[in-house]
Amino acid sequence: MGQLNYYDNIADIYDQSRWLNEAIASEVTDFILKLVKANSETCFLEPGVGTGLNILPLAKRGYAVTGIDISSEMLSQLRQKVGNQAPNLTLIQGDASTLPLSDASFDVVLVVHMSHVVSSLEIFAAEIHRVLKPGGSFLCAQWLLPDARLKFEN
Ligand SMILES: C[S@@+](CC[C@H](N)C(=O)[O-])C[C@H]1O[C@@H](n2cnc3c(N)ncnc32)[C@H](O)[C@@H]1O
Repeated sequence: MGQLNYYDNIADIYDQSRWLNEAIASEVTDFILKLVKANSETCFLEPGVGTGLNILPLAKRGYAVTGIDISSEMLSQLRQKVGNQAPNLTLIQGDASTLPLSDASFDVVLVVHMSHVVSSLEIFAAEIHRVLKPGGSFLCAQWLLPDARLKFEN
């Protein structure tokens, strides 16, 4: 990648700016697992994974999780949290608009506070659709203005 981006500059203070403490993250994880009717084979992808706030509880519970982020510094913060302790966690530095992943390879794609940063919502949505298994779940948590939300939902 070579070039620093905004999130590279704030990676070391990112977690302090979030509301997601461990207890809330655990409750959110319970909710997600119930919603997608997860079993031990369910595999998850989070494009724009950042420092891993959303996926670490899933990885800790043993689920296969892949996280992709364009920022090497955000990924570095995430790697510092897990060390070599999570063989079920795959981290990739890359652009979510061109996911370096096979078609139909994930049961669940999780996008949290990320869709506002991609250059094209249409391309991003098409990539998510491509890597989701048929009948898979796409979960998105995002503040979007009504026009952008309508566009994304369409
Ligand atoms: C607001 S943070 C959200 C991080 C995480 N999802 C969370 O909820 O804490 C946005 C993340 O998207 C990443 N990002 C921005 N543009 C990206 C792109 N084109 N491809 C992949 N990741 C990207 C940033 O580096 C950053 O880690």
